[in-house]
Amino acid sequence: MTDKHLLIVYHSQSGSTERMAQAVIRGACHADIDGVEVRVKRALDASADDLLWADGFILGTPENFGYMSGAMKYFLDGVFYPCEGKINGRPWAMFVRAGNDGSGAISSVRRILTGLAVREVQEPVLIAGAFDEARLAECEELGLTVAAGLEAGVF
Ligand SMILES: Cc1cc2nc3c(=O)[nH]c(=O)nc-3n(C[C@H](O)[C@H](O)[C@H](O)COP(=O)(O)O)c2cc1C
Repeated sequence: MTDKHLLIVYHSQSGSTERMAQAVIRGACHADIDGVEVRVKRALDASADDLLWADGFILGTPENFGYMSGAMKYFLDGVFYPCEGKINGRPWAMFVRAGNDGSGAISSVRRILTGLAVREVQEPVLIAGAFDEARLAECEELGLTVAAGLEAGVF
């Protein structure tokens, strides 16, 4: 039975956040989870309707210039007022790809989402520096954890 909705929104310019996203999606769509519908959107295509649809969500962004990507900011700019007060308490998590840091992307996303009163339910997965394939397992686990939590109603 499908009764919970999980939205995954990400941006990737050169492909490495995309690889993380694919692992998150694999986890979220794990065969053991049949009570969660997963919707995946690129940040430039996602809308407030997608976020209002979601019982929980996962955001993925590279760090650009010490901040989230412009595309992720564009998404959050577009959803903030339409969703303000309507998604309070919903669980979310994020994954970040960075050349060498990542803290600015994480803090900038958190700052905006604090204003939406949503609840971060897991520490971000941050892959900084050389791309370590082995860490894709953490991305997969992130997707699985949020989906399983939604299915079980633990958030
Ligand atoms: C315009 C630009 C700005 C960047 N700024 C940062 C930065 O401030 N901190 C950092 O750690 N990496 C920075 N990077 C590196 C990116 O985070 C890194 O290349 C990442 O892999 C990009 O993700 P993508 O492959 O999904 O596009 C920057 C890259 C670009 C293209």
